[in-house]
Amino acid sequence: MTQHIGELNPPMRLMMTPGPSSIDARVYRALATPLVGHLDPYFRVVMDETQQLLRQMFQTESRITFPLSASGSGGIEAAVLNPLEEGDEALICVNGVFSERMAIIAERTPARVTRVEAPYGRPVDPEDVRRAGKGKKVKIVGLAHGETSTGVLTSIDAFRKVADELGAMLVVDTVATLAGAPLHVDRQRIDICFSGSQKALSAPPGMSPITVSTRAEEAIRARKSKVQSWYFDLSSAMNYWGKDRLYHHTPPISLIYALREAMRIVAEEGLEKRWERHRQNEHALTAGLEAMGIGLLVKNPADRLPTVTAVLVPDGIDEVKVRNQLLDEFNIETAGGFGPLKGKIWRVGLMGHVSQKGNVLLFLAAFEKVLLENGYRAPAGAGVAAAIKCYSEAETAAAVSR
Ligand SMILES: Cc1ncc(COP(=O)(O)O)c(C=O)c1O
Repeated sequence: MTQHIGELNPPMRLMMTPGPSSIDARVYRALATPLVGHLDPYFRVVMDETQQLLRQMFQTESRITFPLSASGSGGIEAAVLNPLEEGDEALICVNGVFSERMAIIAERTPARVTRVEAPYGRPVDPEDVRRAGKGKKVKIVGLAHGETSTGVLTSIDAFRKVADELGAMLVVDTVATLAGAPLHVDRQRIDICFSGSQKALSAPPGMSPITVSTRAEEAIRARKSKVQSWYFDLSSAMNYWGKDRLYHHTPPISLIYALREAMRIVAEEGLEKRWERHRQNEHALTAGLEAMGIGLLVKNPADRLPTVTAVLVPDGIDEVKVRNQLLDEFNIETAGGFGPLKGKIWRVGLMGHVSQKGNVLLFLAAFEKVLLENGYRAPAGAGVAAAIKCYSEAETAAAVSR
């Protein structure tokens, strides 16, 4: 017997998750525009514009800059499989689930992989990478700029310095940071940098922007063996995204429309302003949480991601119950922790379109109410008041500097 299946009618959530984030109405409209073929002259122009915008997002002039037809994990595959082959050595900084995924993927190649670890909640110490690489001929040093599973931001420059000393290329996961935290691919001399469409860019999930330096391009060209993956072999994918526009695979045309529109929105706002907006909203959120007596996993404020905050669950509080109540009562979607952090943290995203003052204040008010009903009493109104104070201090500081 066939059952009637109705038309889609999903709830309009406020997606304060570590991704995907809510998207702007303009991006929905772009998704609904007519399809053309992937070799259509119109689409070739869309491709040029998409690449131009992506170079702006990454702050790079690199020729090989395009969106992979894959989620962020596909970006990791491409970034790691392309440079590594038999006889190579890779050092991967692991401080959470996603940087560990980079190590897991690298370990599937014939290269030798060393994990350089830090406790969850902290960035890896570049000194440990220097020690681990001593006496080795290291091909890549890999790290996650933003470790979404723990809310840690890693500052890239010290790792570039160590990679230079080791003669290695630098591979950086910016899935959680592109368009949400300062990043200058060329100036910071990142060799392979990839991201995801669904986070601070506020486009739908399913695309992984990637950019490759000339040095990495040459290293890929000089390989003795074929890249393990046909789909993620960057040299052949570039036949389509390069000047020849030769068929490689059929790309998700509608997602490219949406990504292009999302990046037009970023460009209109301006990257620096957007980075500052993310930082300011994260400051207000953490000020509010601290005023409520709630702890944060990342102790050092300079190590906190502006896009994702890892919030410690107070003793005796049921993490899942609170999260479900926020969803049912306020339509606010948040996330829990992975692995050893399961049940111990909530992860609250303020990414792209979602990183707004109104959302921070709504979340703090809703969180106070839900916590109270679950047995945690924060000083009444303290979270919202602290966040408002943080915003007005930032406004005063901005007025003085003008
Ligand atoms: C830092 C980081 N890297 C990689 C990924 C994997 O991306 P995806 O889930 O889009 O495959 C994520 C996803 O949350 C992430 O946060």
